[in-house]
Amino acid sequence: MTAETTETSFATTVVDAMEQTTGKYPGYRRAHARGVCFQGTFTPNGEASRLTTAAHLQTSPVPVTVRFSNSNGSPSVADGNRAGRGMAVRFHLPDGTDTDIISVNLPVFIASSPEHFLNLLGALQKDPVTGVADPAKLQAYLGANPEAIPGFGEVAQMPIPVSYGTAKYWAIHAFNFVNSAKHQAIRYRWEPDLGLQELSEAEAATKSAEYLTEELPERLAKGPVGFTLRIQLAEPGDPTNDATKQWPADRTELVVGRLEIVEPVEDQAHWAAQVFDPARITPGVELGDDPIPAFRSLAYAVSFGRRSHNE
Ligand code: HEM
Repeated sequence: MTAETTETSFATTVVDAMEQTTGKYPGYRRAHARGVCFQGTFTPNGEASRLTTAAHLQTSPVPVTVRFSNSNGSPSVADGNRAGRGMAVRFHLPDGTDTDIISVNLPVFIASSPEHFLNLLGALQKDPVTGVADPAKLQAYLGANPEAIPGFGEVAQMPIPVSYGTAKYWAIHAFNFVNSAKHQAIRYRWEPDLGLQELSEAEAATKSAEYLTEELPERLAKGPVGFTLRIQLAEPGDPTNDATKQWPADRTELVVGRLEIVEPVEDQAHWAAQVFDPARITPGVELGDDPIPAFRSLAYAVSFGRRSHNE
Protein backbone atom coordinates (compact mmCIF):
# COMPACT_ATOMS: atom_id res chain seq x y z
CA MET A 1 0.00 0.00 0.00
CA THR A 2 1.32 3.47 -0.81
CA ALA A 3 1.42 6.17 1.87
CA GLU A 4 -1.32 7.96 -0.05
CA THR A 5 -3.67 4.95 0.01
CA THR A 6 -3.03 4.50 3.72
CA GLU A 7 -3.90 8.13 4.34
CA THR A 8 -7.06 7.89 2.23
CA SER A 9 -8.13 4.79 4.09
CA PHE A 10 -7.47 6.59 7.40
CA ALA A 11 -9.60 9.52 6.14
CA THR A 12 -12.36 6.97 5.40
CA THR A 13 -12.07 5.64 8.97
CA VAL A 14 -12.40 9.18 10.36
CA VAL A 15 -15.44 10.00 8.19
CA ASP A 16 -17.04 6.68 9.28
CA ALA A 17 -16.46 7.74 12.91
CA MET A 18 -18.00 11.16 12.20
CA GLU A 19 -21.11 9.40 10.88
CA GLN A 20 -21.24 7.19 13.97
CA THR A 21 -21.03 10.23 16.23
CA THR A 22 -23.56 12.52 14.55
CA GLY A 23 -25.63 10.18 12.38
CA LYS A 24 -25.70 9.67 8.63
CA TYR A 25 -27.70 12.06 6.43
CA PRO A 26 -27.58 10.92 2.79
CA GLY A 27 -26.66 13.63 0.33
CA TYR A 28 -25.26 15.98 2.99
CA ARG A 29 -21.77 16.98 4.10
CA ARG A 30 -20.57 14.83 7.04
CA ALA A 31 -19.99 18.08 8.95
CA HIS A 32 -21.49 21.54 8.40
CA ALA A 33 -24.46 19.85 6.72
CA ARG A 34 -26.79 22.84 6.49
CA GLY A 35 -25.40 25.85 4.68
CA VAL A 36 -26.30 28.69 2.39
CA CYS A 37 -24.20 30.39 -0.30
CA PHE A 38 -23.67 34.01 -1.28
CA GLN A 39 -21.68 36.04 -3.76
CA GLY A 40 -19.68 39.18 -3.39
CA THR A 41 -16.27 40.74 -3.85
CA PHE A 42 -13.00 40.66 -1.94
CA THR A 43 -10.89 43.81 -2.25
CA PRO A 44 -7.29 43.40 -1.07
CA ASN A 45 -5.53 46.55 0.16
CA GLY A 46 -1.98 45.58 -0.92
CA GLU A 47 -0.71 45.20 2.68
CA ALA A 48 -0.02 41.48 2.17
CA SER A 49 1.83 41.91 -1.12
CA ARG A 50 5.24 42.26 0.55
CA LEU A 51 4.65 38.80 2.10
CA THR A 52 2.88 36.87 -0.65
CA THR A 53 2.51 36.80 -4.41
CA ALA A 54 -1.04 35.33 -4.09
CA ALA A 55 -3.23 36.92 -6.77
CA HIS A 56 -6.17 37.69 -4.46
CA LEU A 57 -3.93 39.48 -1.93
CA GLN A 58 -2.46 42.14 -4.22
CA THR A 59 -4.58 45.18 -5.14
CA SER A 60 -7.26 44.05 -7.62
CA PRO A 61 -10.72 43.01 -6.40
CA VAL A 62 -11.76 39.39 -7.01
CA PRO A 63 -15.24 37.83 -7.06
CA VAL A 64 -15.98 35.41 -4.23
CA THR A 65 -18.51 32.74 -3.28
CA VAL A 66 -19.14 32.28 0.44
CA ARG A 67 -20.84 29.36 2.19
CA PHE A 68 -22.04 29.90 5.76
CA SER A 69 -22.96 26.77 7.71
CA ASN A 70 -24.00 25.20 10.98
CA SER A 71 -21.19 22.83 11.99
CA ASN A 72 -23.46 19.93 12.89
CA GLY A 73 -23.50 16.84 10.68
CA SER A 74 -27.31 16.88 10.80
CA PRO A 75 -29.02 19.20 8.31
CA SER A 76 -31.97 19.72 10.66
CA VAL A 77 -30.30 20.69 13.93
CA ALA A 78 -31.62 24.03 15.27
CA ASP A 79 -29.47 27.14 14.81
CA GLY A 80 -30.23 28.58 18.27
CA ASN A 81 -27.53 26.77 20.23
CA ARG A 82 -23.87 27.20 21.07
CA ALA A 83 -22.53 25.37 18.04
CA GLY A 84 -19.82 26.07 15.51
CA ARG A 85 -20.64 28.19 12.48
CA GLY A 86 -18.58 27.95 9.34
CA MET A 87 -17.57 30.52 6.76
CA ALA A 88 -16.00 29.03 3.64
CA VAL A 89 -14.76 31.59 1.11
CA ARG A 90 -13.80 30.77 -2.47
CA PHE A 91 -11.82 33.42 -4.33
CA HIS A 92 -12.23 33.26 -8.12
CA LEU A 93 -8.80 34.30 -9.43
CA PRO A 94 -8.09 36.13 -12.70
CA ASP A 95 -6.33 33.10 -14.25
CA GLY A 96 -9.51 31.00 -13.92
CA THR A 97 -8.35 29.03 -10.84
CA ASP A 98 -9.82 29.25 -7.34
CA THR A 99 -8.47 29.31 -3.81
CA ASP A 100 -10.35 28.76 -0.54
CA ILE A 101 -10.12 30.02 3.04
CA ILE A 102 -12.26 27.95 5.41
CA SER A 103 -12.96 29.25 8.86
CA VAL A 104 -15.13 28.72 11.93
CA ASN A 105 -16.19 30.89 14.87
CA LEU A 106 -13.49 29.34 17.08
CA PRO A 107 -9.90 30.53 17.53
CA VAL A 108 -8.47 27.06 18.24
CA PHE A 109 -9.28 23.48 17.27
CA ILE A 110 -10.12 20.60 19.62
CA ALA A 111 -7.43 18.20 18.35
CA SER A 112 -3.80 18.60 17.35
CA SER A 113 -3.65 15.74 14.82
CA PRO A 114 -6.01 13.57 12.74
CA GLU A 115 -5.26 10.61 15.05
CA HIS A 116 -6.28 12.62 18.13
CA PHE A 117 -9.42 13.78 16.31
CA LEU A 118 -10.36 10.13 15.70
CA ASN A 119 -9.80 9.28 19.38
CA LEU A 120 -11.91 12.27 20.36
CA LEU A 121 -14.74 11.12 18.10
CA GLY A 122 -14.56 7.77 19.91
CA ALA A 123 -14.98 9.57 23.25
CA LEU A 124 -18.00 11.46 21.88
CA GLN A 125 -19.86 8.41 20.52
CA LYS A 126 -23.39 8.07 21.82
CA ASP A 127 -24.14 5.09 24.05
CA PRO A 128 -26.49 2.79 22.08
CA VAL A 129 -28.66 2.28 25.17
CA THR A 130 -28.93 5.81 26.61
CA GLY A 131 -28.58 7.63 23.26
CA VAL A 132 -26.15 10.16 24.80
CA ALA A 133 -22.37 10.36 25.01
CA ASP A 134 -20.80 9.27 28.29
CA PRO A 135 -19.31 12.43 29.91
CA ALA A 136 -16.74 10.24 31.70
CA LYS A 137 -15.26 9.22 28.33
CA LEU A 138 -14.76 12.86 27.33
CA GLN A 139 -13.24 13.64 30.74
CA ALA A 140 -10.85 10.71 30.31
CA TYR A 141 -9.93 11.97 26.82
CA LEU A 142 -9.27 15.49 28.13
CA GLY A 143 -7.20 14.06 30.98
CA ALA A 144 -4.99 12.25 28.47
CA ASN A 145 -5.04 15.13 25.92
CA PRO A 146 -4.97 18.40 27.89
CA GLU A 147 -4.13 20.34 24.69
CA ALA A 148 -7.83 19.92 23.75
CA ILE A 149 -9.08 21.76 26.87
CA PRO A 150 -8.81 25.36 25.53
CA GLY A 151 -10.83 24.39 22.43
CA PHE A 152 -13.57 22.82 24.54
CA GLY A 153 -13.54 25.94 26.77
CA GLU A 154 -14.15 28.06 23.65
CA VAL A 155 -16.91 25.73 22.45
CA ALA A 156 -18.71 26.01 25.81
CA GLN A 157 -18.83 29.81 25.63
CA MET A 158 -19.44 30.17 21.91
CA PRO A 159 -21.80 33.06 21.16
CA ILE A 160 -25.17 32.40 19.51
CA PRO A 161 -24.90 34.96 16.69
CA VAL A 162 -27.72 37.30 15.66
CA SER A 163 -26.59 36.76 12.07
CA TYR A 164 -23.92 34.91 10.13
CA GLY A 165 -22.72 38.48 9.53
CA THR A 166 -22.20 39.20 13.26
CA ALA A 167 -19.64 36.50 14.15
CA LYS A 168 -15.85 36.34 13.97
CA TYR A 169 -14.31 33.46 12.04
CA TRP A 170 -10.80 31.98 12.32
CA ALA A 171 -9.12 29.70 9.74
CA ILE A 172 -7.16 28.36 12.77
CA HIS A 173 -4.24 26.61 11.02
CA ALA A 174 -1.00 28.37 10.15
CA PHE A 175 -0.29 28.84 6.44
CA ASN A 176 2.95 30.12 4.91
CA PHE A 177 2.97 33.27 2.87
CA VAL A 178 5.72 33.17 0.25
CA ASN A 179 7.28 36.05 -1.63
CA SER A 180 10.52 35.20 -3.51
CA ALA A 181 12.73 33.51 -0.92
CA LYS A 182 10.85 34.73 2.14
CA HIS A 183 8.42 32.58 4.14
CA GLN A 184 6.14 34.01 6.81
CA ALA A 185 3.74 31.86 8.86
CA ILE A 186 0.35 33.55 9.24
CA ARG A 187 -3.14 32.85 10.55
CA TYR A 188 -6.31 34.33 9.00
CA ARG A 189 -9.28 35.86 10.79
CA TRP A 190 -12.48 37.47 9.45
CA GLU A 191 -13.88 40.36 11.53
CA PRO A 192 -17.50 41.43 10.87
CA ASP A 193 -18.19 45.10 10.00
CA LEU A 194 -21.39 44.74 12.06
CA GLY A 195 -19.36 43.82 15.15
CA LEU A 196 -20.13 40.85 17.37
CA GLN A 197 -23.85 40.64 18.10
CA GLU A 198 -25.23 37.68 19.97
CA LEU A 199 -28.53 36.32 21.26
CA SER A 200 -29.27 35.23 24.81
CA GLU A 201 -30.43 31.64 25.15
CA ALA A 202 -33.96 32.93 25.86
CA GLU A 203 -33.92 35.03 22.67
CA ALA A 204 -32.50 32.14 20.65
CA ALA A 205 -35.34 29.90 21.86
CA THR A 206 -37.84 32.21 20.11
CA LYS A 207 -36.07 31.91 16.74
CA SER A 208 -36.91 29.48 13.97
CA ALA A 209 -34.71 26.39 13.63
CA GLU A 210 -33.01 27.79 10.52
CA TYR A 211 -33.02 31.47 11.49
CA LEU A 212 -29.40 32.02 10.44
CA THR A 213 -30.06 30.68 6.93
CA GLU A 214 -33.14 32.91 6.64
CA GLU A 215 -31.70 36.05 8.23
CA LEU A 216 -28.80 36.86 5.91
CA PRO A 217 -30.77 37.07 2.63
CA GLU A 218 -33.25 39.38 4.38
CA ARG A 219 -30.42 41.59 5.67
CA LEU A 220 -28.73 41.65 2.23
CA ALA A 221 -31.94 42.89 0.61
CA LYS A 222 -31.22 46.16 2.50
CA GLY A 223 -27.49 46.35 1.67
CA PRO A 224 -24.17 44.46 1.61
CA VAL A 225 -22.60 42.78 4.63
CA GLY A 226 -18.85 43.17 5.12
CA PHE A 227 -15.93 41.45 6.78
CA THR A 228 -12.30 42.54 7.17
CA LEU A 229 -9.60 39.93 6.57
CA ARG A 230 -6.83 40.16 9.16
CA ILE A 231 -3.67 38.09 9.38
CA GLN A 232 -1.60 37.43 12.49
CA LEU A 233 2.16 37.05 11.86
CA ALA A 234 4.08 34.32 13.70
CA GLU A 235 7.37 35.05 15.40
CA PRO A 236 10.18 32.49 15.68
CA GLY A 237 9.14 29.70 18.05
CA ASP A 238 5.38 30.19 17.68
CA PRO A 239 3.79 26.77 17.07
CA THR A 240 2.77 26.34 13.44
CA ASN A 241 1.99 22.61 13.62
CA ASP A 242 -0.62 22.63 16.39
CA ALA A 243 -4.14 23.99 15.83
CA THR A 244 -4.96 23.71 19.55
CA LYS A 245 -2.55 26.54 20.40
CA GLN A 246 -3.09 30.25 19.82
CA TRP A 247 -0.18 32.60 19.22
CA PRO A 248 0.38 35.39 21.74
CA ALA A 249 -2.17 38.19 21.36
CA ASP A 250 0.56 40.81 20.89
CA ARG A 251 1.80 39.37 17.58
CA THR A 252 1.71 41.84 14.67
CA GLU A 253 -1.57 41.82 12.78
CA LEU A 254 -2.29 43.28 9.36
CA VAL A 255 -5.60 44.12 7.75
CA VAL A 256 -5.17 42.73 4.24
CA GLY A 257 -8.54 43.34 2.61
CA ARG A 258 -12.29 43.57 2.87
CA LEU A 259 -15.03 41.19 1.78
CA GLU A 260 -18.38 42.54 0.74
CA ILE A 261 -21.19 40.00 0.50
CA VAL A 262 -23.94 41.22 -1.80
CA GLU A 263 -26.59 38.57 -2.45
CA PRO A 264 -27.41 34.85 -2.30
CA VAL A 265 -26.08 32.83 -5.25
CA GLU A 266 -28.82 32.00 -7.73
CA ASP A 267 -28.03 28.31 -7.92
CA GLN A 268 -27.88 27.09 -4.30
CA ALA A 269 -27.94 23.42 -5.39
CA HIS A 270 -24.86 23.89 -7.57
CA TRP A 271 -22.91 25.51 -4.75
CA ALA A 272 -24.11 23.03 -2.13
CA ALA A 273 -22.56 20.33 -4.34
CA GLN A 274 -19.07 21.91 -4.33
CA VAL A 275 -16.22 21.09 -1.96
CA PHE A 276 -14.49 23.92 -0.13
CA ASP A 277 -11.02 22.62 0.69
CA PRO A 278 -8.40 24.07 3.08
CA ALA A 279 -5.66 22.68 0.83
CA ARG A 280 -6.96 24.54 -2.25
CA ILE A 281 -4.16 27.10 -2.05
CA THR A 282 -2.58 29.22 -4.76
CA PRO A 283 1.02 30.22 -5.60
CA GLY A 284 2.21 32.58 -2.85
CA VAL A 285 0.56 30.49 -0.12
CA GLU A 286 1.81 27.11 1.16
CA LEU A 287 0.54 24.58 3.68
CA GLY A 288 2.76 24.62 6.73
CA ASP A 289 3.75 21.74 9.03
CA ASP A 290 0.31 21.32 10.64
CA PRO A 291 -0.74 17.74 9.72
CA ILE A 292 -4.47 18.55 9.72
CA PRO A 293 -5.13 20.68 6.57
CA ALA A 294 -3.80 18.11 4.07
CA PHE A 295 -5.68 15.39 5.96
CA ARG A 296 -8.87 17.46 5.91
CA SER A 297 -8.58 17.61 2.14
CA LEU A 298 -8.71 13.77 2.01
CA ALA A 299 -11.60 13.57 4.51
CA TYR A 300 -13.58 16.22 2.61
CA ALA A 301 -13.09 14.19 -0.59
CA VAL A 302 -14.48 11.08 1.17
CA SER A 303 -17.50 13.07 2.38
CA PHE A 304 -17.95 14.55 -1.10
CA GLY A 305 -17.76 11.08 -2.71
CA ARG A 306 -20.54 9.84 -0.42
CA ARG A 307 -22.84 12.83 -0.63
CA SER A 308 -22.51 13.14 -4.40
CA HIS A 309 -23.84 9.54 -4.68
CA ASN A 310 -26.67 10.45 -2.31
CA GLU A 311 -25.15 8.21 0.35
C1 HEM B 1 -9.28 16.45 11.56
C2 HEM B 1 -10.01 17.56 11.48
C3 HEM B 1 -11.22 17.75 10.63
C4 HEM B 1 -11.98 16.83 9.94
C5 HEM B 1 -11.77 15.31 9.82
C6 HEM B 1 -13.04 17.56 9.28
C7 HEM B 1 -14.01 16.99 8.49
C8 HEM B 1 -14.95 17.67 7.73
C9 HEM B 1 -15.81 17.09 6.73
C10 HEM B 1 -15.87 15.60 6.38
C11 HEM B 1 -16.53 18.08 6.18
C12 HEM B 1 -17.56 17.97 5.02
C13 HEM B 1 -16.80 18.22 3.70
C14 HEM B 1 -17.68 18.14 2.47
O1 HEM B 1 -18.46 17.20 2.31
O2 HEM B 1 -17.53 19.03 1.60
C15 HEM B 1 -16.14 19.32 6.82
C16 HEM B 1 -16.64 20.57 6.52
C17 HEM B 1 -16.19 21.74 7.11
N1 HEM B 1 -15.19 21.88 8.03
FE1 HEM B 1 -14.05 20.41 8.78
N2 HEM B 1 -12.91 18.91 9.55
C18 HEM B 1 -11.81 19.06 10.38
C19 HEM B 1 -11.34 20.24 10.90
C20 HEM B 1 -11.83 21.48 10.63
C21 HEM B 1 -11.27 22.71 11.10
C22 HEM B 1 -10.01 22.86 11.95
C23 HEM B 1 -12.08 23.72 10.62
C24 HEM B 1 -11.90 25.20 10.79
C25 HEM B 1 -10.85 25.87 10.39
C26 HEM B 1 -13.13 23.11 9.85
C27 HEM B 1 -14.14 23.78 9.20
C28 HEM B 1 -15.06 23.21 8.34
C29 HEM B 1 -16.05 23.97 7.60
C30 HEM B 1 -16.30 25.47 7.68
C31 HEM B 1 -16.74 23.04 6.81
C32 HEM B 1 -17.85 23.35 5.81
C33 HEM B 1 -17.21 23.78 4.50
C34 HEM B 1 -18.28 24.09 3.46
O3 HEM B 1 -19.06 25.02 3.71
O4 HEM B 1 -18.31 23.41 2.42
N3 HEM B 1 -12.96 21.75 9.86
N4 HEM B 1 -15.18 19.03 7.77
